[in-house]
Amino acid sequence: MSIALVILAAGKGTRMNSDMPKVLHEIAGAPMLVHAMKAGATLNPERTVVVAGHGADAVEAAAKAYDPEAQVVLQEEQNGTGHAVMMTREALKDFDGDIIVLYGDTPFVRPETLENMVKARASHAVVVLGFEADTSEKYGRLVMDGDMLEAIVEYADARDDIRNISFCNSGVMLAKSSVLFDLLDATNNDNASGEYYLTDVVKAARDKGLTATAVSCDESETMGVNSRSHLAEAEAAFQTRARGELMADGVTFVDPNSVWLSFDTVIGRDTVIEPNVFFGPDVTVESGVRIRAFSHLEGAHVSRGGIVGPYARLRPGTELAEDVKIGNFVETKNAIIDEGAKVNHLSYIGDAQVGEKANIGAGTITCNYDGVMKHKTTIGKNAFIGSNTMLVAPVSVGDDAMTASGSVVTKPVEDGALALARAQQVNKPNMARKLFEMLRAKKAKQVKGKE
Ligand code: UD1
Ligand code: MG
Repeated sequence: MSIALVILAAGKGTRMNSDMPKVLHEIAGAPMLVHAMKAGATLNPERTVVVAGHGADAVEAAAKAYDPEAQVVLQEEQNGTGHAVMMTREALKDFDGDIIVLYGDTPFVRPETLENMVKARASHAVVVLGFEADTSEKYGRLVMDGDMLEAIVEYADARDDIRNISFCNSGVMLAKSSVLFDLLDATNNDNASGEYYLTDVVKAARDKGLTATAVSCDESETMGVNSRSHLAEAEAAFQTRARGELMADGVTFVDPNSVWLSFDTVIGRDTVIEPNVFFGPDVTVESGVRIRAFSHLEGAHVSRGGIVGPYARLRPGTELAEDVKIGNFVETKNAIIDEGAKVNHLSYIGDAQVGEKANIGAGTITCNYDGVMKHKTTIGKNAFIGSNTMLVAPVSVGDDAMTASGSVVTKPVEDGALALARAQQVNKPNMARKLFEMLRAKKAKQVKGKE
């Protein structure tokens, strides 16, 4: 059965107290909306439709940045979750598969759970995702009769006996598109909130002699984000889950709780992550790597056998080949560093290509920016860059070449050459001693003057 994914994301999220629409607040470096889209994408939907309202332009941009094929429809007034789904009717008029509705602010539904819903759909017209919650929570209540879901009653509309039901509505719903739109037509806004409730679809289905059921999942999957403190809880939940998955995949975290991961961080087996490491978006680390403490990585690829840090910063466009060493206080950006090369201390390597087994001395800087444009530095195989070399780009240093420490290199250095680009040293015999005597005498005079 083909599936269309509908994501409700029109709400303002008043309790976030923000100028930004709620669904664009980030968890692990990606908007909540993207997490919801990613969760839904595991069902291989034929279509994705996002319902936007508050901050619709920004929501549309975020949705399309993740999935350029996604359609975004506008719900100008937020008249309820049922009304929001009705807004997708036009976009889905030529689609006759199943629709799965997810909320943009409920980012953590697991793929297995969605699969269970798809299985249950084989024998029921409507499938809802439920979870056990404390009865003090104000979720919609699922009224069951055996396996059969009879109705969903919103908390605000519920009598006390219904409020005592602990099986609650997550908001995720699956039904055939034509059936869903017909059922929505049968609902009204005659309720405590004066809104069209998506949840009323269940009662409407039963009235028409169709069956509905509920699949259950863990409460952690249906966690909705309504405030900044929920956002922090969701972030923590994501991090815990992501670290746990990586550990199960064979990654060692010396102190898991101090490592921050992005939604897309990939780390290979037998890699060791030391404490206090930050992974920004788009980082892949292969097997057998060690990322030492206090390193910060984003947009970077680290190949097998690499050692990074402590205190290294890998910025976007960093490509480290196998067995590369990046040491303390080294920053790389847009840099391709070939096999076995070493940049061990206090360097900036930006817009650069570094050859195999090259050794970059402490304090080397690629001067890549002239204030207007960026320029490239190329360093050859086995080159040895002396400490504190300034490589004024565009510039190249050949294979097996060397630069003397302290050089300011502005011209290309050919293969095998030594570039010496610094003032000549002049030694003045005894001059230091004389200078010391002179200065000490001067100081003594000053001290005496003050007495
Ligand atoms: C909804 C459910 C409730 C469930 C709870 C789970 C209904 C009527 N109630 O209640 O049974 O227990 O979620 O969290 O569905 N939205 C729109 N347009 C609208 C209204 C909402 O796009 O007009 C979006 C919101 O942005 C949000 C989602 O739909 O992403 C849910 O809306 P919300 O107002 O939070 O519903 P709840 O009252 O929490
Ligand atoms: Mg809600």
